[in-house]
Amino acid sequence: MLLADFIAALDQLAAEGPARIAAATSLDEWTAVRNALVGRQSGTLSGIMEGLGKLPKEDRREAGQRANTVKQALESALEERRGAIAASSATGGPVLDLSMPGRREWVGTVHPVSLVIDEVIAIFRELGFTIALGPEAETGWYNFGALNFPEDHPAMDLHDTLYLGDDAVLRTHTSPVQVRTLQTYPPPVRVLAPGNVYRRDFFDASHAPMFAQIEGLVVDEGVTFADLKATLTHFARRFFSATTRTRFRPSFFPFTEPSAEMDVECGVCHGSGCAVCKQSGWVEILGSGMVHPAVLEAAGLDSEKYTGWAFGMGPARTAISRYGIPDIRILYDSDVRFLEQFAR
Ligand code: PHE
Repeated sequence: MLLADFIAALDQLAAEGPARIAAATSLDEWTAVRNALVGRQSGTLSGIMEGLGKLPKEDRREAGQRANTVKQALESALEERRGAIAASSATGGPVLDLSMPGRREWVGTVHPVSLVIDEVIAIFRELGFTIALGPEAETGWYNFGALNFPEDHPAMDLHDTLYLGDDAVLRTHTSPVQVRTLQTYPPPVRVLAPGNVYRRDFFDASHAPMFAQIEGLVVDEGVTFADLKATLTHFARRFFSATTRTRFRPSFFPFTEPSAEMDVECGVCHGSGCAVCKQSGWVEILGSGMVHPAVLEAAGLDSEKYTGWAFGMGPARTAISRYGIPDIRILYDSDVRFLEQFAR
């Protein structure tokens, strides 16, 4: 090999190198160019250097010096380019394109039904209530039998139950949690049981086959209907407004006696009558009553010693009247345009 050939190869590398280095626009490209030019194993420069040993002895010194000069020039060009790439973007990634259209950030919000549940829980928590939970798949006994539904009583049809098997149902209300709680914890008991319930209903403006309920239960010695009225009236004033009027109407549930439904003054028309309250001035918000002695006994409690009261409310209905939502189905659509209005 001749010195002239060795130098010609070096000159070619020195001539091409800078343009190839300048063409690298990302750290990945830069790394590839560096490896190709001055890489230890397979770079062009190390290929040329292999020829050094084949040169006549007297030429090696000059050849080595030339090679070093080219190597240093390439390395400083590489270093400079790497700094420029890093400066063009903090991550060393592709260059930031400020003309790109922005991307919308979707911020999650609490669902209006969850907002209502959280608020109801907060109000009752101040009164010493804790949370109790039960399974959504129940036995017939917990959903009906223990709650004093007579076998084959037409009231069971009313619930239009979804059966999972011979003795398994999707609970039609949260009232089975009353029985489970009383079986587990000795009185005094003060619990709220929020959860989903299921009925064989089709979706329409005011019905859904699955919806949330909040059950309340108080059992102790000497608990009376006056406690029920006072507590639920207090709740309505805290939840709606301090001047909201309430009324109790006699009702019937197999598991309470006596039973009452509580109405609150319509929040939209304040009692004068509108579409939301169907011109009545009142909106029903919950069912309630004194726990039937048969329920206490089914849960293993002495109904001569203990009394209690319970209620069940539907937070979706409450959300509808509170936020003026015209159709219950909107609550199930997961439409972000609707839901994000409730961002806090
Ligand atoms: N479980 C009843 C329902 O589903 C509501 C209720 C609960 C009524 C507790 C009285 C007491 O409608």
